[in-house]
Amino acid sequence: MSMDRIRELIDRMTLREKLGQLQIVFRPKLEDAAELVRAGLGSVFWPPSAAATNSLQRVAVEESRLGIPVLVGLDVIHGQRTIAPVPLAQAAGFDPALVTELAALAAAEARSGGVTWTFSPMADISRDPRWGRVVEGFGEDVHLTSTMVRAMVRGYQGGDLTSRTSLAATAKHFVAYGAPEGGRDYNGVDASDHQLRNVHLEPFRAAVEEGAAGVMAAFNTVAGVPMHANRRLLTGVLKDEWGFDGVVVGDAEGVRNLVAHRVAGDEAAAVVLAFEAGLDVEMGGAPADLTDEALTRIDGRRLDDAVARVLALKERLGLFDDPYVDEDAEITEPSARSRRLVRRAAARACVLLRNDGTLPLGSPRRVVVTGPYADSTDHLGAWTQYFGARAGTIADRLRDRLPDAVLEILPGVGFLDEDGSGIPAVVAAAHSADVVVICAGEPSALSGEAASRSDLRLPGRQEDLIRAVAGTGTPFVVVLESGRPLVVADWIEHAPTVVAAWHGGTEAPAAIVDVLLGDEDPAGRLPMSWPRSVGQIPIHYAHENTGRPATTGGTLSADETDVGLHGPDNLQDKFTSKYLDLELGPQFSFGHGSSYATFACGSPTVSREHVECSALDAGAAVTVSLDVTNTSARSGDDVVQVYVEDVVASVAPPVRRLVAFERRTLTPGETASFTFEIGRDQLGFWMTDAAQPRFVVEPGVFRLHVGSTLASMQSVELLVS
Ligand code: GLC
Repeated sequence: MSMDRIRELIDRMTLREKLGQLQIVFRPKLEDAAELVRAGLGSVFWPPSAAATNSLQRVAVEESRLGIPVLVGLDVIHGQRTIAPVPLAQAAGFDPALVTELAALAAAEARSGGVTWTFSPMADISRDPRWGRVVEGFGEDVHLTSTMVRAMVRGYQGGDLTSRTSLAATAKHFVAYGAPEGGRDYNGVDASDHQLRNVHLEPFRAAVEEGAAGVMAAFNTVAGVPMHANRRLLTGVLKDEWGFDGVVVGDAEGVRNLVAHRVAGDEAAAVVLAFEAGLDVEMGGAPADLTDEALTRIDGRRLDDAVARVLALKERLGLFDDPYVDEDAEITEPSARSRRLVRRAAARACVLLRNDGTLPLGSPRRVVVTGPYADSTDHLGAWTQYFGARAGTIADRLRDRLPDAVLEILPGVGFLDEDGSGIPAVVAAAHSADVVVICAGEPSALSGEAASRSDLRLPGRQEDLIRAVAGTGTPFVVVLESGRPLVVADWIEHAPTVVAAWHGGTEAPAAIVDVLLGDEDPAGRLPMSWPRSVGQIPIHYAHENTGRPATTGGTLSADETDVGLHGPDNLQDKFTSKYLDLELGPQFSFGHGSSYATFACGSPTVSREHVECSALDAGAAVTVSLDVTNTSARSGDDVVQVYVEDVVASVAPPVRRLVAFERRTLTPGETASFTFEIGRDQLGFWMTDAAQPRFVVEPGVFRLHVGSTLASMQSVELLVS
């Protein structure tokens, strides 16, 4: 349908019919949905099948006055029928191509059931693991998040939204939802323009550049202005500055929440405020009931612009030409191929936090499998309440893979309860075992929306179980499943081999066993820092250096009576940015991880050591290269990362920033050359000192840090003049 035809259609619409196109009703009963669609509702959230979608479309097309087909929206976050690892785990895989494949799988499954619009990817950056929704994003880093957001948008949308395997993607939650005060979901955010431009807005700019069809407004305020009423950002930045021509959809009840935010006196005022600010579609449990008077308070051109955006999206999806789905082609179960794909993804998401050589397991004869995840099927993670295919158990998969071993399955403790009475039996069994596999973690229910936690340690008596097993002297492995970084300080020194497996989805148990037995290499890298203590939060690697960077932390000791420490020899340590009672830095940093293989790196080289700003502005780039050799007898993955350190800038720069990465498998003895382009986008930053922010590359010295682990990073200098 051309824009002319869309305009003609809008001209024929009544005010009520226009409002109908600007609302999506959240999880209506099917019979109610038919009634609403007959009356002109333009979008619904979630019909549960292809048949249900077709029945709704028939009502829309044949029984409503204008016959406009409906959009069917749903949270397809990390899979529809076949559940992939949670997005945070996908980020840990450092494999954008795989993220695209997983999104494409999800899109094909969901579209076959009539869904046309997903509220994903989540582009929120977070440095606060207390926030339950870190599970749904890609972590703390701008480049990693932006890269994965682009990859997911490509996977969902493909090259053609009319395709029966594509979904309209929605980048959410615009903006800065991942930085709530106190890590409490929905809480206020007081981000500076410097933070907004250089951190929180960047992944959304990437999503818009990638052609995302939608953007969802966030629940939070930014500097006191609720995002659902934030004209400066929704219209000024997103639509006017970036030229976003898609649909801005509210979050569930986000418009009505403006009354609770105390910026609107009633629902009608909230709706008017939101549409005037730049929202195009209101999402709620029931259509907003506006009087004609309230409707006329919304500028007519704004209303028509919003309706045009919605109709254009329906046109991009091909709904005017054919709104129906082939019910015989509906995918309702995982396939062998989809299971293989998510199993591989779950294994590649695993991060080897520590390994004393216990992994990979050889062929143990006697194995104790313990911990609440030993026989749990709760591996899907958040946002799988709709259709996700259940997972099996780690115990069952180990039985399948080690048929000749004697397996004792003794969970020992629950996820949350304080009952430790099962621990002695585990200890007794461990004494006669070759190895103990402790399957611990955070159940899915403690992760996701409205699931912030103030204590990030393993819940219940899991830590006691780990310490008790450590006390037996039998070799053991800890497998951690979670939707966030955990605080492991109270036991990690007793556990020489620990794998972070996240919530890995439908095939998580098989993937974990693949990793335990060495069939897959757990070469993922942490997408978020793991704090030593909740007291460190927010914590991330791209922090400012401060005017007094610390070199030591945790200087308080029992015998220190005078912590004044006025002597000059203490000055350089005392008055620096640290905690008196905690070591410096996180337990495990962003980018931490390794592999079952071992690698040796050459020295990084650059194509040129000097480049002009003008050349960079004209598109020139420097390449930085690193040769890596697999020095082990097994294939393995290396993840080479490149960080930029701006030595002196007009505003305090982060101590370093990830600007490029590549994960690659190397066979035994193989040497591979990793090469990355470093140009304006990698060296510049947003200056927000003027009314109109501008992206600048400043002259000066830059250090490029290149390597695959923090310990092996090497740097090379680049002069920009
Ligand atoms: C929820 C979430 C949002 C989701 C929407 C619809 O409250 O904040 O991410 O897409 O409602 O379920």
